[in-house]
Amino acid sequence: MIHLVSRHGLQPRRRPSRARAFSTRSATHEALRGYWDDDAATYDLWREHGAHSAIERAAWRGELSRYLPPCGARVLDVGAGTGFLSTAAARLGYEVTAVDISPGMLARLEASAVREGLTIDTVCASAECPPPGPYDVVIARLVLWTLPDPVAALQAWMRVLVPGGRLLVFEARWTGGSYGEALRRRARGVLHRLQNATREHHAAYPSELVSSLPLLADPSPNRIVETIEAAGWRNVRLAHLSDVGFARTAVLPRLGQSLGATPEYVVQADADPRLPD
Ligand SMILES: C[S@@+](CC[C@H](N)C(=O)[O-])C[C@H]1O[C@@H](n2cnc3c(N)ncnc32)[C@H](O)[C@@H]1O
Repeated sequence: MIHLVSRHGLQPRRRPSRARAFSTRSATHEALRGYWDDDAATYDLWREHGAHSAIERAAWRGELSRYLPPCGARVLDVGAGTGFLSTAAARLGYEVTAVDISPGMLARLEASAVREGLTIDTVCASAECPPPGPYDVVIARLVLWTLPDPVAALQAWMRVLVPGGRLLVFEARWTGGSYGEALRRRARGVLHRLQNATREHHAAYPSELVSSLPLLADPSPNRIVETIEAAGWRNVRLAHLSDVGFARTAVLPRLGQSLGATPEYVVQADADPRLPD
């Protein structure tokens, strides 16, 4: 079931996001909002932020179909950004609410939804204060590393789920790994910049922000899993998104193919039936 849309308006790029707004008062949240508002215009140009070919889109469709509950379920996408997961889930027939701290990112998401005729509810809020739901599943991609209190956010997400609800955290190994992997990552970045004249982000995080983000120093898969467990999620299980890796590599020119793609993975977990208050 794909919903036809009109409520997002006809020219979303020319006006700010119409997302419902929740207040976020801390200086860290304001700094995050400013950074991501500035990043919104170029975020999608970085190849691995999106799915820029038919084969990558098909691989993501396969992964989402594999891990999401049955079609029609209510999905909360936290840190939804320009809507990579939200639009993919809405296309598959899920009822999607997208939360992000950045109105600039949400305006892009809304523009994509309008272009594709998808209905996605948008909420401008910090990850620690999700809308009440209830939802069947919370999804978050490339978000935990940038949260000031990832454990509090993960616990808040559990509270807006139905009993038996599910968490899907999609991540990529942008740092760490073997020397060989680090070298290939660096070479991939150089190649991408040469071919596309773009960077992964418009700027690095300012140092005062860096010191407020506990996962930034070590966003390894092990730390991500430990953090999800620390928040009280049950049956935490990890899977490598090998189909996505295959698809990302297959569309590269030959030189790029020998460098491979950033490893991407999903961590799946179940809400604790004895929810924390
Ligand atoms: C790396 S982007 C990921 C976007 C999207 N999930 C994707 O897969 O492309 C991180 C997103 O998290 C949002 N974000 C950062 N800090 C946040 C916070 N404290 N609460 C809610 N969203 C936040 C940013 O605005 C940005 O859109």
